[in-house]
Amino acid sequence: MSTPEKPPIEIPTETPHHGHDHGGAPGHPSGESPNGHHDPAKQPYIAFEHVSKAFGSQVVLDDVSFFVLPGEVLCILGRSGVGKSVSLQNIVGFLKPDAGRILVAGEDITGFTDKQMQLIRRKVTMVFQNGALFDSLTVRENVAFPLRERNELQEDQIMQIVKGLLDMVGVHEDLFDELPSGLSTGMKRSVAIARALAAQPEAILYDEPTTMVDPLIARLLGDLILKLKHQLRLTSIVVTHDMRFAERLADRVLFLHQGKAHFFGTMEEMKQSKDEILQQFLELDTLVLPGA
Ligand SMILES: Nc1ncnc2c1ncn2[C@@H]1O[C@H](COP(=O)(O)OP(=O)(O)O)[C@@H](O)[C@H]1O
Ligand SMILES: [Mg+2]
Repeated sequence: MSTPEKPPIEIPTETPHHGHDHGGAPGHPSGESPNGHHDPAKQPYIAFEHVSKAFGSQVVLDDVSFFVLPGEVLCILGRSGVGKSVSLQNIVGFLKPDAGRILVAGEDITGFTDKQMQLIRRKVTMVFQNGALFDSLTVRENVAFPLRERNELQEDQIMQIVKGLLDMVGVHEDLFDELPSGLSTGMKRSVAIARALAAQPEAILYDEPTTMVDPLIARLLGDLILKLKHQLRLTSIVVTHDMRFAERLADRVLFLHQGKAHFFGTMEEMKQSKDEILQQFLELDTLVLPGA
């Protein structure tokens, strides 16, 4: 076994609906969102149902609903400060919604305790923009870290898996003993993805993976996300400013605007949309490269 090949993700056949109904509101049952035409037998892997989140008087998310099906890539688009990172943080429980429900892997995680969330974070890992690698550990040891934490693998097994994972993300063996400070931004992100994969997640959340990397590296990161989708059937959410990147990757797109899920649908639907705000965003995006 050189890479942690996983069996296809089991599609939950039932999400726990009972007990948390919002007073019979006409909400969208999981898997049937406003414009989410898809096989109703397929339950979402991650779903927001009428999620709201404010910081003091600042409403960041206002009744936001969307989903991503198992093995799909959802791209989240929107201007800076619109709540893209906040959305991801709600999925892994770093933040909790004020209202609405969040479903992950068939479970309503809204009221989950920290301990329960730790289990969710094993299934759903976040890849941070700066890579969040351990500065004092080599590339090899960074990726080995989650494997060592499992406390069940022999050293030679760990090293074999590490090599397989770094191979998969395209990091050359020459770099295995480097410290993160010796790596380019793109390489740091690849190593961070390898480390995320070491935890054998079912889904990966990427926050602006292409910010501050050149177009070639952006392309390679896109290739990698698609490879993980096809080979490991990973579910992904990719927050990005980069339209071309989104176009290549996204099965579905969520466009956040003024606290709302202004658009949620397939890439095709987005391209055909005549919505003015969305069009403005798409046009702007080809002209400027906004910061994070
Ligand atoms: N922990 C926090 N406490 C207070 N305000 C926050 C917190 N996290 C994010 N915000 C605010 O929420 C808004 C959305 O932030 P964010 O999701 O990071 O935007 P982006 O879409 O650029 O990722 C911003 O105005 C930000 O300042
Ligand atoms: Mg952000």
